[in-house]
Amino acid sequence: MNASPVAPAANLVIFGVLGDLASRLLMPAMASLAGSGLLAPGTRLLGVSHHDLDDDGLRCRLDELVGPIPGWSRIREHVHYQKGEFSDPQLFATLVSELKGNAIFYLATAPQFFGPIIDSLGKGGLLDEIGGFRRVVIEKPFGTDLASAQALNRQILARAREEQIYRIDHFLGKETVRNIMLLRFANTVFEAIWNSCYIDHVQITVAETLTVGSRGKFYDETGALRDMVPNHLFQLLAMIGMEPPISLDAEAVRDEKARVISAIRPVDPDQAARGRYGSGDVLGQPVSPYLAEINVNPASRTETFVALEVHVDTPRWSGVPFFLRTGKALAARDTEILIQFRDVPHSLSRQTGISANRLVLQLQPDEGISLDLMMKRPGPALELAPVSMNLNYADHFKLGSRTGYETLLYDVLTGDQTLFPRADQIEAGWRALQPLIERWDHGWPQEYAAGSAGPASADALIRRAGRNWHPVG
Ligand code: BG6
Repeated sequence: MNASPVAPAANLVIFGVLGDLASRLLMPAMASLAGSGLLAPGTRLLGVSHHDLDDDGLRCRLDELVGPIPGWSRIREHVHYQKGEFSDPQLFATLVSELKGNAIFYLATAPQFFGPIIDSLGKGGLLDEIGGFRRVVIEKPFGTDLASAQALNRQILARAREEQIYRIDHFLGKETVRNIMLLRFANTVFEAIWNSCYIDHVQITVAETLTVGSRGKFYDETGALRDMVPNHLFQLLAMIGMEPPISLDAEAVRDEKARVISAIRPVDPDQAARGRYGSGDVLGQPVSPYLAEINVNPASRTETFVALEVHVDTPRWSGVPFFLRTGKALAARDTEILIQFRDVPHSLSRQTGISANRLVLQLQPDEGISLDLMMKRPGPALELAPVSMNLNYADHFKLGSRTGYETLLYDVLTGDQTLFPRADQIEAGWRALQPLIERWDHGWPQEYAAGSAGPASADALIRRAGRNWHPVG
């Protein structure tokens, strides 16, 4: 990122500055941008929340959380605090007098405040781009189903133009996720075989060892499906499934992603599995069942694991199933995409049951790419052996530890919307999940042991389709 130009100076107004997201991810990301020399001297951060605090109070709170990052000392003095209720017109009147020139409004709040804050910003004239740009960043969850996402988009677009709206999906800021598109379209060897003639199926896995922990209130209302699938998993699917864009311009890329997400066939509830962790052991630590987590309703039907078989109705993917799964309290942290190529039409060997012929994109941890091939086992007999060609992306490019927010915040400052899902992408994602959302209003998730690979129903789902999951971890 060091070769990138310095971003234009702006006021970054963070609603919900004392929340977990702002203090744990946004502020460190801004500090890291400052440390890389990418923030212009006039950049100012204005934190908003209803707590009694002042500039110094906020800076001291952030010292502990952000302090060790080299850039923190560069922006610390430019951090300010504004007390206010998100529903109070006075707060917005103060912002009008405070803010001159470029401003970004970052809604790091609970989702019920997204619409009302944007209404107040609009009514107050804070989104009028007279003396500079005015942009709004919205965190997920963006709606809870198709109707609510459409309503939220309508509410937002009544106050601002789509070009002012940055819906954030932090997966898209991860280097390894951004790399997928270039890997596909810059290498003849992949693009030539990236279709139903050569690909048998695709698996997308986002396995976490984390439990719900202190996020019970949010999570119990949300669940694994809404928390991860319409956003992170569908964005990964879009990177794998999209057609080549005519250029790398934001709208060209967003058009292709919207097209492929719109082509996801509404998910058949009989091709889905849901689970919820019970007690168990994750990485040697005992874990209590989900229902015993703080702020979780003991009668909850919320799932902490979901697995789906998804079909993408485009010529490229005709007949190729995409198997998606994500869950918490699993055996290992493992975000990967597996492309399983078809078996060779006529095997020269009589050996069967050896799996290779696949490409694994390991997104986190241990970022890398491995191509599993068949080779001859050395020795007098003509015997096949599977081998992996591995590229460790993280070591090769000396990836530092980044959360994804650095890139995304820089993009908001510089006005690059490529990595931000557009309204049509979001709605298409919910549309595909709507049958499942309706079915899952009833019934219960199947329990799985914490520290396992998920519920038995997820294994049954993929086995019914004649395939097996790649082991987690
Ligand atoms: C968030 C979800 O969007 O992504 C969390 O709300 C999840 O539940 C997280 O843990 C996973 O992101 P990462 O970057 O830690 O893989």
